[in-house]
Parts: sequence; structure tokens; C-alpha cells
Amino acid sequence: MNNFVFQNPTKLVFGKGEIAQLATLIPEEKKILVTFGGGSVKRNGVYDQVVQALKNHKFIEFWGIEPNPEVETIRKAVALGTEHQVDFVLAVGGGSVLDGSKLIASALANPDKDPWSIVLGRYSETAIPYASVMTLPATGSEMNAGAVISRRETKEKYAFYTNYPIFSILDPEVTFSLPAFQVACGIADIFVHITEQYMTAPGQSRPMDRWAEGLLLTLLEIAPKIKENQNDYDVMADYMLTATLGLNGMISMGVSQDWCTHMIGHELTALHGVTHGASLAIVYPGTLRTLKEQKKGKILQYGERVFGITSGSEDERIEAAIAKTEEFFRSLGLATRLSEVNIGDETINLIAERFNTAGLAIGEQLNVTGDVAKQILLNCK
Ligand code: NZQ
Ligand code: ZN
Repeated sequence: MNNFVFQNPTKLVFGKGEIAQLATLIPEEKKILVTFGGGSVKRNGVYDQVVQALKNHKFIEFWGIEPNPEVETIRKAVALGTEHQVDFVLAVGGGSVLDGSKLIASALANPDKDPWSIVLGRYSETAIPYASVMTLPATGSEMNAGAVISRRETKEKYAFYTNYPIFSILDPEVTFSLPAFQVACGIADIFVHITEQYMTAPGQSRPMDRWAEGLLLTLLEIAPKIKENQNDYDVMADYMLTATLGLNGMISMGVSQDWCTHMIGHELTALHGVTHGASLAIVYPGTLRTLKEQKKGKILQYGERVFGITSGSEDERIEAAIAKTEEFFRSLGLATRLSEVNIGDETINLIAERFNTAGLAIGEQLNVTGDVAKQILLNCK
């Protein structure tokens, strides 16, 4: 196991009716910028709960943070926050609203910097305090320090890091209104967050392996139940908590990490607007096919412990594990091939070129260059 430091300061407030806790979680003297997406929170009652809880606070509202939040929109929110001298940001929505709000909070603490330069700087040491009411279990953004921001002008999409949210409120009832496609993408996103931290080399940490496998098994178990009844509180609670545990640092202590599927998926989103989770369902099977020699030991372990694959030669078991993974994504109703979303060689070559120009070499062995990314994408056709 590698040396590591683990500290996750986000307070998690979980359960039915807990949005009301906003009344006391944010000090009354704070001037709050409350940020929203396109309006789902008005239709499902979350907005009313937030306004009721903040009735003794001073706050202003910023609407319109879009899926895959764009820096162009964030600049407008920063201007509003600056004008009203806010000293707290509350994100109410999915990962996009929260990620956008992480950049807003960072930009408000660094008035001399343009938000895009903060993203390109990769790490913002300061941000004004911010928190979330998370409405979409997927990104883990509610309990991590990362955010992914797009720039419309240039079709780029990059991650940056800052302080953690002060708190996040997770009420599983808010997920009842999610469109089925967003649930499918959410489950695929959680699945791949876990594998990015797990599918590397075996024998690094028993507790991390078992924890990751437990979360993967949870997803396999609950996915069909969610399809059956999205209003089952306990199932949605498990879904919500699995998303948080999948990317809050709890399964990555002392182990190597990959993240090449995410980096390639972000390109598909930036260039073609493919929804984040949907992009991962396409790329991940291709990543496994391309890197199966390097990841052999772990794929065999995954096949056995997650899918119960115990018979056949090593090659057969690896193929079976990859097929089961793709089958799981398809069972969610997601595409798993580039051809299904009309993406062809032109995009594959462009992504390879972008990776090569940036001199990228990613993955747990830092060997996924533009050429390897191209191979991965060719294996997704
Ligand atoms: O905008 P509104 O009207 O609120 O509607 C949203 C949006 O259209 C809707 N929605 C959210 N909660 C809902 C709901 N509809 C009904 N009921 C609810 N309870 O869902 C749509 C998608 O929302 P979005 O926030 O875009 O989805 P998600 O949470 O999957 O976030 C995706 C973004 O997060 C980034 C992705 O790249 C993408 O930009 N990621 C962030 C990460 C992080 N911060 O750690 C890690 C991830 O790997 C990921 O890259
Ligand atoms: Zn993700």
C-alpha cells in the first residue's frame, strides 16, 4: 500500500426532510448566492423546501447552470455574486450545478483571476465557503473537491480542484423525479468512478478492494430495482450513498488510480455533447479490451468477485468479465459503442491528436498516450 493522507471535511446530512436543516447549517449573517440548473427543482418541490428553510437568511438566486457547466455561464454568476458581495454559495441541483458553484466560489475568492485560468491552474487554494443540496446521485461532487468545467468556445472540458463543500444535504426523495436516462447515466458514472480506483493492479490493499467490490455489487443489485420502482425510498437511499462513497476518497486510500476512461469520455462530451455517464459506458469496455494485459490480474479478480466468473482459461474469464460489464451498461439502456451515437474516425483522430499535443500520458502506468487513447476508441467502435 502506498503512503497516503486522508481527510474529508464535508459534513453529510442524509435523509428524508433534511433540506430543512439549511436553516441552521448556514449562519444567519451569511449573504448567500443560491445556484440552480434549468428548473427541475421548481417542479419537484426542492426549491420550495430551500426557500422555506432560508426564510431568515439573505440570499439571491442564480439560475441556468447547464449540464456540463460552461465557464461562460459561470462568469455571469461570479459577476452577480460580486455585485451583491455574497460570502457563501449554496448549490441546489446535480453535479453540474455543484461543479459550476465550486468554480464560482473559487473565482469569488480570487477576483483577480478569470475563471478559466483557475480551471487551467488545476488547483484553487482558496474558495469562499460553499455547500450543496444534491439532487442527482452520480458524480460524488457532494463530498469531493473536484469539479469539471467546459468552455463552449473551444469545446474543451477539464477538471480542477479546490476546497471541499462545507456540507451536503442528500434527501433520497428528491431523486424520485429523475428522468430514467439520468438515473442510467448516474449508475454508469458511479460504476466507472469505482473502477477507475480499482481496476489497476491487484494486491495493493484488501480493504480498498473489498470496499470497491461491495459498491459495484450494490450497483448490480439495485439497478434493476430502481428500474422497477424509482420511488422506493430505501433503494434510492442506497443509490445515493453509493454515489457519494464512490468518489469521496474512501476507496482510493493507498492504491493506484487510472482515470483514462474519464479523460477520454470528457472529450466525447466536449466535442459531441454526449452525457457524461453515457460517454463512460461507451469508453470503459474499450479501455478494458485495450489494456487487458496490463490489468489482467485485477480483471480476473473482478470477474470472480463481482460477476462470479470462475471457470474457463484466463483469457476466457477476462473476455467474460468484459462482456458482463458491457451487458450491465446495456441493461441500463445505454449505448456501448461509438457507432450508436454516430461518432467515427474523425473524432477518434482528433482526440488522439489533442492528447498527443498536450503530451498526455495517463492511467495507472502513465502509458495512455494519444496513440493508446486512439486504440481504446477504435475498440469502442
Ligand atoms: O438543470 P436541471 O433543471 O436541474 O435538470 C438537471 C439536468 O438537466 C436534471 N436533474 C438533476 N436533478 C434532478 C433532475 N431532474 C429531475 N429531478 C432531479 N432530482 O438532470 C440533468 C443532468 O444534471 P447534471 O447535474 O448535469 O448531471 P450530473 O450530476 O450527472 O453531473 C454531470 C457533470 O458532472 C461532471 C460531469 O463531467 C458533468 O459535467 N463530473 C463531476 C465530477 C466531480 N465533481 O467529482 C466527477 C464526474 O466524473 C464527472 O466528470
Ligand atoms: Zn464521472
